Amino acid sequence: MPERPFLMDQWYVCARKAELTRAPLARRICGVPLVFFRREDGSAVALDERCPHRKYPLSKGQLIGDDIECPYHGIRFGADGGCTLIPAQAEIPRGFGTRAFPLVEKSALVFVWMGDPALADAALVPDFFENDSPDWKPMSDYLRIEANWQLVVDNLLDLTHLTFVHKTTLASSGIQENPLIVAVEGDSVRARREMHNVEPAPIFRTMREFKGNIDRFQNITFCLPSHVHIKVEATPAGVNDDPDRAHHVVLNHLTPETERSTHYFWSITRRIRIDDDEISERLHRLNKMAFDEDVDVLRRQQEMVDMDASPLVNLAADKAVNEARRIIRRKFADEAARA
Ligand code: FES
Ligand SMILES: [Fe+2]
Repeated sequence: MPERPFLMDQWYVCARKAELTRAPLARRICGVPLVFFRREDGSAVALDERCPHRKYPLSKGQLIGDDIECPYHGIRFGADGGCTLIPAQAEIPRGFGTRAFPLVEKSALVFVWMGDPALADAALVPDFFENDSPDWKPMSDYLRIEANWQLVVDNLLDLTHLTFVHKTTLASSGIQENPLIVAVEGDSVRARREMHNVEPAPIFRTMREFKGNIDRFQNITFCLPSHVHIKVEATPAGVNDDPDRAHHVVLNHLTPETERSTHYFWSITRRIRIDDDEISERLHRLNKMAFDEDVDVLRRQQEMVDMDASPLVNLAADKAVNEARRIIRRKFADEAARA
């Protein structure tokens, strides 16, 4: 467990765009209870959901125009968090309100900035265009994982676990034998594994018919604070110019809920046979099955980590994990220096 639990000056995925409506939504991010809703013009709002009067959860309230009304004593707050009405008194005390958090909507996702609002630069929001490009077909879902967010990042950066955890969905030969080639670019980590002449894993057969073995490639990119983009290439063995080479991508956004729980927003998005709904359904089912296996592994792992403070051991397959953790540690140090 790191000394500080969360990086704060970062853009975290807090919701999918479609989740935010005129009905208030409660969700805890980095330990802070938030309420999300949309204004009448459709723009999204995030407020600390604790009513500053007696801490009643504002998510239980109703929207009156662009204000949210606390259902306990009827006090209202605007989209900037400032109090707009106190039914039992005419004067609103100066500075009375709840905190508002910057939001950006991009790539069918909503990103929230939990740290210093002066540093919230919308240009730093990463681009996951495969989520809302007409050339790609996304299947998205959400899982809540009872484990620290860094354990979930580790899980996605060391895919040697596919052989053992995801035997019926994602496993194929070649994963253990071929090392990750890892490169660090600024605050990102890129890792690639090439597997030649291996049998197609079940997930590939869901989308395409391969007559024989395939060449399979994993291209994993970690970017701050906890986004993992996995591009999967699969092509008949020995064929290098297949137009379906960029087969599908798996987008993983791991947002801390608490120190021991993580919101997992995932999409699997493909650029082949995008109009085939049956493929979408099968793909979603298979991927969900695999990720439910991770949920179980991570919960058990967190239980053991909680009982044992000794450090984790890094082996050859943890090369990308180590680089990502190094970048995260550096960012924690930067934030501590600014505090
Ligand atoms: S607790 Fe919200 S109005 Fe009193
Ligand atoms: Fe997994």
